[in-house]
Amino acid sequence: MAKITYVEFSGTEHTVDVADGLTVMEGARDNNIPGIEADCGGACACSTCHVYVDAAWVEKLPSMDDMEEDMLDFAFEPDMARSRLTCQLKVSAELDGLKVFMPEKQI
Ligand code: FES
Repeated sequence: MAKITYVEFSGTEHTVDVADGLTVMEGARDNNIPGIEADCGGACACSTCHVYVDAAWVEKLPSMDDMEEDMLDFAFEPDMARSRLTCQLKVSAELDGLKVFMPEKQI
């Protein structure tokens, strides 16, 4: 389990507990947090689960694979230093305290 904070573009914060094995995208979806659309359901095929990871967390996350990197090119204003697709981030205790920021819009 990990406590994850999702920050909407407006600045509204949502801190929720997300079970191990879910993705960061599923944590938002299951808690009805707006701003992550996840149109493809987590298949790394849409880029609408894009967030900017808090700078303090960038190095702590597993590196992205080629598929995620390619798909991020289609996201709205990606920042290759901080952008991630939340459907590709598996939750475990190691992610406890993670903070992610929603973009202004998804695509
Ligand atoms: Fe579609 Fe993440 S949900 S790429």
